[in-house]
Amino acid sequence: MAKYIFDVDLRMQLDKVDEGARFQEEVRDTVTSYQTEPEWRKVTHDWTLHALDKRYVYNFSCLGRPIIQFPQDMVAFQEIVWDVKPDLIIETGIAHGGSLIQSASALAMLEYCEAIEKGEMLDPRAPKRRVIGVDIDIRAHNRSAIEAHPLANRIDMIQGSSIDADIVAQVKKAAEGYSRILVSLDSNHTHDHVLAELEHYAPMTSKGSYCLVYDTVVEDMPVDFYPNRPWEPGNSPKSAVFAYQEALKKNPINGDDGTPLSFQNDRTVEDKLFITVTPDGFLKRD
Ligand SMILES: C[S@@+](CC[C@H](N)C(=O)[O-])C[C@H]1O[C@@H](n2cnc3c(N)ncnc32)[C@H](O)[C@@H]1O
Repeated sequence: MAKYIFDVDLRMQLDKVDEGARFQEEVRDTVTSYQTEPEWRKVTHDWTLHALDKRYVYNFSCLGRPIIQFPQDMVAFQEIVWDVKPDLIIETGIAHGGSLIQSASALAMLEYCEAIEKGEMLDPRAPKRRVIGVDIDIRAHNRSAIEAHPLANRIDMIQGSSIDADIVAQVKKAAEGYSRILVSLDSNHTHDHVLAELEHYAPMTSKGSYCLVYDTVVEDMPVDFYPNRPWEPGNSPKSAVFAYQEALKKNPINGDDGTPLSFQNDRTVEDKLFITVTPDGFLKRD
């Protein structure tokens, strides 16, 4: 009798696993089918243009701090963090701190879940997973609001240009000892700046993790879309991503972990999001 109950129980569990796998397969098929949706892509492009023109990207916040992102990209970010389970997130471009808080909260949640799974006590005063943010201009009111946030004890902020040798050295030093590093680049969006950021920070990305390059969408906008900014199509984060990928192919190098460095452009993310400021910017390290 006991054995029968066990078998039924096992069967039900296996069914659930099968159902879960089937659901994931269905989602994959659905997303794949979007690749032949030129009309929908066009509508999305027009919508994105309009939304960026109307400053839609400034409307949101993460746990109380304004974040300059599309909500879709925020969802993608939490999916990536859950999959990668980084112990360190390195971000360039802090602004109001929303993306720092987003990273800190995702890392706090990883620690919370890990503690439950291991049956351990969690001490929120001693966070292990951390975020480093770099910005050339951390405004006083933003710094104090970030420092006053309950998640501040897992955030380190460094002021200076992200491509300044001394700042890069500080970040590299702070990254020592971490083994699952995720990088997020969202500062100055010119080609040269992002290319230099990629050269400095992409090698810090751990295997299987991501180097996220935000605002690659600049490349897909009309030439005069950002009249007061130094970036435009041809001089954008996306042109930098392509140049970096080419350079890596021509002159292969190792990452900071001493193993060969290469990235796949993970289009599955943008394929399902449709709405994103990060097309061709979800770089996954092989
Ligand atoms: C788009 S905002 C960052 C938005 C933020 N990641 C978020 O999601 O809310 C860009 C930031 O990059 C910073 N920045 C501009 N040039 C920089 C540079 N050379 N080095 C580091 N940060 C820079 C700006 O001061 C600004 O705060």
